[in-house]
Amino acid sequence: MNTLPINRIINGECVSEMKKLPDSCVDLIIADPPYNLSKGSEWKWDNSVELQGMGGNWNKVMQVWDDFTFESYMTFTKAWLTEAKRILKPTGSMWIFGTYHNIGVINVICQMLGIEIINEVVWYKRNAFPNLAGRRLTASHETILWCNKGEKKREYFFDYEYSKSGDFSYDSLKTPGKQMRTVWDISNNKEKVELKYGKHPTQKPIRILKRMIKLASREGDIILAPFSGSGSECVAAKMTGRKYIGIELDNLYCEIAANRLAHVEANEDQLGQLSLSLFESEETK
Ligand SMILES: C[S@@+](CC[C@H](N)C(=O)[O-])C[C@H]1O[C@@H](n2cnc3c(N)ncnc32)[C@H](O)[C@@H]1O
Repeated sequence: MNTLPINRIINGECVSEMKKLPDSCVDLIIADPPYNLSKGSEWKWDNSVELQGMGGNWNKVMQVWDDFTFESYMTFTKAWLTEAKRILKPTGSMWIFGTYHNIGVINVICQMLGIEIINEVVWYKRNAFPNLAGRRLTASHETILWCNKGEKKREYFFDYEYSKSGDFSYDSLKTPGKQMRTVWDISNNKEKVELKYGKHPTQKPIRILKRMIKLASREGDIILAPFSGSGSECVAAKMTGRKYIGIELDNLYCEIAANRLAHVEANEDQLGQLSLSLFESEETK
Protein backbone atom coordinates (compact mmCIF):
# COMPACT_ATOMS: atom_id res chain seq x y z
CA MET A 1 0.00 0.00 0.00
CA ASN A 2 1.58 3.30 -1.09
CA THR A 3 -0.70 5.74 0.66
CA LEU A 4 -1.78 5.10 4.20
CA PRO A 5 -5.54 4.98 5.00
CA ILE A 6 -5.28 8.12 7.11
CA ASN A 7 -8.32 9.22 9.12
CA ARG A 8 -10.27 6.15 8.10
CA ILE A 9 -11.89 3.25 9.93
CA ILE A 10 -11.24 0.08 7.97
CA ASN A 11 -13.90 -2.62 8.23
CA GLY A 12 -11.70 -5.71 8.38
CA GLU A 13 -9.64 -8.15 10.40
CA CYS A 14 -6.70 -6.42 12.03
CA VAL A 15 -3.95 -8.95 11.29
CA SER A 16 -4.81 -9.05 7.58
CA GLU A 17 -5.25 -5.27 7.43
CA MET A 18 -1.98 -4.53 9.26
CA LYS A 19 -0.19 -6.86 6.80
CA LYS A 20 -1.14 -4.37 4.05
CA LEU A 21 0.70 -1.53 5.83
CA PRO A 22 4.42 -0.88 5.29
CA ASP A 23 7.11 -1.32 7.96
CA SER A 24 7.59 1.49 10.51
CA CYS A 25 4.65 3.64 9.43
CA VAL A 26 2.71 4.53 12.61
CA ASP A 27 3.74 6.61 15.62
CA LEU A 28 1.48 5.17 18.29
CA ILE A 29 -0.70 2.07 18.63
CA ILE A 30 -3.53 1.90 21.15
CA ALA A 31 -4.75 -1.69 21.28
CA ASP A 32 -7.91 -2.65 23.13
CA PRO A 33 -8.05 -6.33 22.10
CA PRO A 34 -10.62 -8.96 23.08
CA TYR A 35 -9.93 -9.88 26.74
CA ASN A 36 -11.17 -13.46 26.20
CA LEU A 37 -13.61 -13.27 29.08
CA SER A 38 -16.90 -14.05 27.34
CA LYS A 39 -17.26 -17.33 29.19
CA GLY A 40 -19.68 -18.91 31.65
CA SER A 41 -23.10 -17.46 32.38
CA GLU A 42 -24.40 -14.08 31.42
CA TRP A 43 -24.64 -11.25 34.00
CA LYS A 44 -26.76 -8.18 33.46
CA TRP A 45 -27.65 -5.14 35.49
CA ASP A 46 -30.03 -2.34 34.72
CA ASN A 47 -30.91 0.99 36.23
CA SER A 48 -34.04 -0.26 38.01
CA VAL A 49 -31.95 -0.66 41.17
CA GLU A 50 -29.90 2.35 42.14
CA LEU A 51 -26.40 1.94 43.49
CA GLN A 52 -24.68 5.04 44.76
CA GLY A 53 -21.92 6.23 42.42
CA MET A 54 -22.86 3.80 39.66
CA GLY A 55 -24.25 5.08 36.40
CA GLY A 56 -25.56 3.32 33.34
CA ASN A 57 -26.61 -0.18 32.54
CA TRP A 58 -24.00 -2.84 32.94
CA ASN A 59 -23.54 -6.31 31.62
CA LYS A 60 -20.72 -8.80 31.54
CA VAL A 61 -19.20 -8.91 28.05
CA MET A 62 -20.58 -11.91 26.15
CA GLN A 63 -19.45 -11.55 22.55
CA VAL A 64 -18.42 -14.06 19.90
CA TRP A 65 -15.30 -11.99 19.12
CA ASP A 66 -14.23 -12.33 22.75
CA ASP A 67 -14.40 -16.12 23.14
CA PHE A 68 -11.20 -18.07 22.34
CA THR A 69 -9.66 -21.29 23.60
CA PHE A 70 -6.46 -20.57 25.52
CA GLU A 71 -4.31 -21.88 22.64
CA SER A 72 -6.12 -19.89 19.97
CA TYR A 73 -5.88 -16.74 22.12
CA MET A 74 -2.08 -17.26 22.30
CA THR A 75 -1.88 -17.71 18.52
CA PHE A 76 -4.09 -14.69 17.83
CA THR A 77 -2.13 -12.49 20.27
CA LYS A 78 1.17 -13.50 18.69
CA ALA A 79 -0.18 -12.76 15.21
CA TRP A 80 -1.41 -9.22 15.92
CA LEU A 81 1.56 -8.27 18.10
CA THR A 82 3.96 -9.41 15.36
CA GLU A 83 2.31 -7.07 12.87
CA ALA A 84 1.98 -4.25 15.41
CA LYS A 85 5.72 -4.42 16.11
CA ARG A 86 6.57 -4.39 12.40
CA ILE A 87 4.49 -1.33 11.52
CA LEU A 88 5.49 0.70 14.60
CA LYS A 89 8.17 3.35 14.03
CA PRO A 90 11.32 3.03 16.18
CA THR A 91 10.33 6.42 17.65
CA GLY A 92 6.86 5.12 18.46
CA SER A 93 5.24 3.10 21.20
CA MET A 94 2.16 1.05 21.97
CA TRP A 95 -0.45 0.97 24.76
CA ILE A 96 -2.28 -2.33 25.34
CA PHE A 97 -5.36 -2.71 27.59
CA GLY A 98 -6.12 -5.88 29.51
CA THR A 99 -7.18 -7.55 32.73
CA TYR A 100 -5.88 -10.57 34.61
CA HIS A 101 -7.75 -12.77 32.10
CA ASN A 102 -5.44 -11.88 29.22
CA ILE A 103 -2.68 -9.50 30.24
CA GLY A 104 -0.34 -12.33 31.34
CA VAL A 105 -0.54 -13.84 27.84
CA ILE A 106 0.12 -10.44 26.25
CA ASN A 107 3.05 -9.76 28.58
CA VAL A 108 4.66 -13.15 27.80
CA ILE A 109 4.18 -12.79 24.04
CA CYS A 110 5.63 -9.26 24.08
CA GLN A 111 8.71 -10.76 25.70
CA MET A 112 8.81 -13.64 23.17
CA LEU A 113 8.72 -11.11 20.32
CA GLY A 114 11.34 -8.82 21.86
CA ILE A 115 8.81 -6.02 22.43
CA GLU A 116 10.02 -4.05 25.45
CA ILE A 117 7.55 -3.23 28.22
CA ILE A 118 8.28 0.34 29.34
CA ASN A 119 5.68 0.47 32.11
CA GLU A 120 2.76 -1.50 33.45
CA VAL A 121 0.00 0.93 34.43
CA VAL A 122 -2.81 0.10 36.83
CA TRP A 123 -5.99 1.93 35.82
CA TYR A 124 -7.82 2.23 39.12
CA LYS A 125 -11.59 2.54 38.69
CA ARG A 126 -12.97 4.03 41.83
CA ASN A 127 -16.53 3.50 40.52
CA ALA A 128 -15.99 -0.22 39.87
CA PHE A 129 -19.07 -2.38 39.78
CA PRO A 130 -19.55 -4.41 42.99
CA ASN A 131 -19.14 -8.18 43.01
CA LEU A 132 -22.80 -9.21 43.09
CA ALA A 133 -22.25 -12.81 44.17
CA GLY A 134 -20.04 -11.75 47.08
CA ARG A 135 -17.66 -14.60 46.30
CA ARG A 136 -14.54 -12.59 45.55
CA LEU A 137 -13.01 -9.13 45.82
CA THR A 138 -14.46 -6.33 43.70
CA ALA A 139 -12.35 -6.10 40.57
CA SER A 140 -11.52 -2.40 40.43
CA HIS A 141 -8.63 -2.06 38.00
CA GLU A 142 -7.47 -2.82 34.50
CA THR A 143 -3.86 -3.24 33.47
CA ILE A 144 -2.27 -1.30 30.63
CA LEU A 145 1.12 -2.16 29.15
CA TRP A 146 3.16 0.62 27.54
CA CYS A 147 5.69 -0.90 25.13
CA ASN A 148 8.23 0.01 22.49
CA LYS A 149 9.58 -1.93 19.55
CA GLY A 150 12.42 -3.28 21.66
CA GLU A 151 15.29 -2.05 19.54
CA LYS A 152 18.70 -1.62 21.15
CA LYS A 153 18.58 2.17 21.01
CA ARG A 154 15.48 3.44 22.80
CA GLU A 155 14.00 6.21 20.65
CA TYR A 156 10.35 6.23 21.73
CA PHE A 157 8.74 9.61 22.36
CA PHE A 158 7.70 10.55 25.90
CA ASP A 159 6.35 13.97 26.85
CA TYR A 160 7.93 14.12 30.29
CA GLU A 161 6.86 17.72 30.86
CA TYR A 162 3.20 16.89 30.19
CA SER A 163 3.45 13.85 32.46
CA LYS A 164 4.56 16.09 35.33
CA SER A 165 2.63 19.27 34.72
CA GLY A 166 -0.45 18.44 32.60
CA ASP A 167 -3.91 19.00 34.07
CA PHE A 168 -4.82 15.81 35.90
CA SER A 169 -7.01 17.46 38.52
CA TYR A 170 -9.58 14.63 38.22
CA ASP A 171 -6.96 12.09 39.39
CA SER A 172 -6.66 11.90 43.19
CA LEU A 173 -3.35 9.99 42.88
CA LYS A 174 -1.51 12.58 40.74
CA THR A 175 0.35 15.38 42.50
CA PRO A 176 0.68 18.49 40.28
CA GLY A 177 4.28 19.11 39.22
CA LYS A 178 5.49 15.68 40.38
CA GLN A 179 6.38 12.68 38.21
CA MET A 180 3.41 10.65 37.02
CA ARG A 181 3.20 7.26 38.70
CA THR A 182 1.91 3.99 37.31
CA VAL A 183 -1.44 3.98 39.14
CA TRP A 184 -4.05 6.19 37.46
CA ASP A 185 -7.33 7.08 39.14
CA ILE A 186 -9.73 7.60 36.25
CA SER A 187 -13.47 7.05 36.45
CA ASN A 188 -14.88 4.64 33.88
CA ASN A 189 -18.04 6.76 33.67
CA LYS A 190 -18.40 8.38 30.26
CA GLU A 191 -19.46 11.92 29.52
CA LYS A 192 -22.93 12.44 28.00
CA VAL A 193 -21.56 13.05 24.52
CA GLU A 194 -19.52 9.81 24.65
CA LEU A 195 -22.68 7.84 25.38
CA LYS A 196 -24.78 9.78 22.86
CA TYR A 197 -22.71 8.71 19.85
CA GLY A 198 -20.63 5.79 21.16
CA LYS A 199 -22.32 2.47 21.84
CA HIS A 200 -20.05 -0.45 22.66
CA PRO A 201 -20.05 -2.98 25.54
CA THR A 202 -16.38 -2.26 26.31
CA GLN A 203 -16.16 1.40 25.33
CA LYS A 204 -13.13 3.17 26.83
CA PRO A 205 -13.44 6.67 28.31
CA ILE A 206 -11.97 9.45 26.16
CA ARG A 207 -10.15 10.91 29.16
CA ILE A 208 -7.76 7.94 29.57
CA LEU A 209 -7.11 7.76 25.81
CA LYS A 210 -6.22 11.46 25.62
CA ARG A 211 -3.76 10.95 28.45
CA MET A 212 -2.07 8.04 26.64
CA ILE A 213 -1.95 9.98 23.38
CA LYS A 214 -0.47 13.12 24.91
CA LEU A 215 2.12 11.18 26.90
CA ALA A 216 3.42 9.27 23.90
CA SER A 217 2.86 11.25 20.69
CA ARG A 218 3.14 14.67 19.09
CA GLU A 219 0.51 16.68 17.20
CA GLY A 220 0.20 15.41 13.62
CA ASP A 221 1.38 11.88 14.53
CA ILE A 222 -0.41 8.80 13.19
CA ILE A 223 -2.25 6.66 15.73
CA LEU A 224 -3.42 3.15 14.91
CA ALA A 225 -6.31 1.48 16.76
CA PRO A 226 -6.36 -2.16 15.56
CA PHE A 227 -9.53 -2.98 17.58
CA SER A 228 -11.32 0.32 17.20
CA GLY A 229 -14.85 -0.69 18.29
CA SER A 230 -16.98 2.44 18.56
CA GLY A 231 -13.96 4.57 17.63
CA SER A 232 -12.95 5.99 21.04
CA GLU A 233 -9.20 5.91 20.27
CA CYS A 234 -9.78 7.63 16.90
CA VAL A 235 -12.05 10.26 18.48
CA ALA A 236 -9.38 11.02 21.10
CA ALA A 237 -6.76 11.25 18.32
CA LYS A 238 -8.86 13.71 16.34
CA MET A 239 -9.59 15.82 19.43
CA THR A 240 -5.88 16.11 20.21
CA GLY A 241 -4.77 17.00 16.67
CA ARG A 242 -3.39 13.58 15.69
CA LYS A 243 -4.22 11.46 12.63
CA TYR A 244 -5.78 8.03 13.05
CA ILE A 245 -6.27 4.66 11.39
CA GLY A 246 -8.93 2.42 12.90
CA ILE A 247 -9.52 -1.27 12.14
CA GLU A 248 -12.72 -3.00 13.22
CA LEU A 249 -14.21 -6.39 12.36
CA ASP A 250 -17.87 -5.46 12.87
CA ASN A 251 -19.42 -3.15 10.31
CA LEU A 252 -22.02 -1.87 12.79
CA TYR A 253 -19.25 -0.54 15.06
CA CYS A 254 -17.52 1.01 12.02
CA GLU A 255 -20.72 2.94 11.31
CA ILE A 256 -21.06 4.01 14.95
CA ALA A 257 -17.43 5.19 14.92
CA ALA A 258 -17.86 7.12 11.66
CA ASN A 259 -20.90 8.92 13.06
CA ARG A 260 -19.04 9.68 16.30
CA LEU A 261 -16.07 11.08 14.41
CA ALA A 262 -18.36 13.28 12.33
CA HIS A 263 -19.55 14.94 15.54
CA VAL A 264 -16.05 15.76 16.81
CA GLU A 265 -14.07 18.83 15.84
CA ALA A 266 -10.40 18.30 14.97
CA ASN A 267 -8.18 19.82 17.69
CA GLU A 268 -11.21 20.11 19.97
CA ASP A 269 -8.94 19.72 22.96
CA GLN A 270 -6.82 22.72 22.04
CA LEU A 271 -9.91 24.73 21.09
CA GLY A 272 -11.31 23.99 24.53
CA GLN A 273 -8.14 25.23 26.16
CA LEU A 274 -8.04 28.30 23.93
CA SER A 275 -11.58 29.36 24.77
CA LEU A 276 -10.90 28.70 28.45
CA SER A 277 -7.80 30.90 28.39
CA LEU A 278 -9.75 33.67 26.58
CA PHE A 279 -12.42 33.42 29.25
CA GLU A 280 -9.82 33.57 32.00
CA SER A 281 -8.11 36.65 30.52
CA GLU A 282 -11.50 38.39 30.28
CA GLU A 283 -12.08 37.62 33.95
CA THR A 284 -8.74 38.99 35.08
CA LYS A 285 -8.93 42.26 33.13
C1 LIG B 1 -12.46 -4.39 23.45
S1 LIG B 1 -13.35 -3.88 22.04
C2 LIG B 1 -12.71 -2.24 21.68
C3 LIG B 1 -13.62 -1.13 22.14
C4 LIG B 1 -13.08 0.26 21.83
N1 LIG B 1 -11.88 0.56 22.58
C5 LIG B 1 -14.13 1.34 22.12
O1 LIG B 1 -13.90 2.18 23.01
O2 LIG B 1 -15.19 1.32 21.51
C6 LIG B 1 -12.62 -4.87 20.81
C7 LIG B 1 -13.19 -4.67 19.41
O3 LIG B 1 -12.35 -5.39 18.51
C8 LIG B 1 -13.15 -5.98 17.51
N2 LIG B 1 -12.37 -7.13 17.02
C9 LIG B 1 -12.26 -8.35 17.59
N3 LIG B 1 -11.38 -9.11 16.91
C10 LIG B 1 -10.92 -8.33 15.90
C11 LIG B 1 -9.98 -8.54 14.85
N4 LIG B 1 -9.36 -9.71 14.71
N5 LIG B 1 -9.74 -7.52 13.99
C12 LIG B 1 -10.38 -6.32 14.12
N6 LIG B 1 -11.29 -6.08 15.09
C13 LIG B 1 -11.55 -7.07 15.97
C14 LIG B 1 -14.46 -6.32 18.17
O4 LIG B 1 -15.52 -6.35 17.21
C15 LIG B 1 -14.60 -5.18 19.18
O5 LIG B 1 -15.41 -4.14 18.67
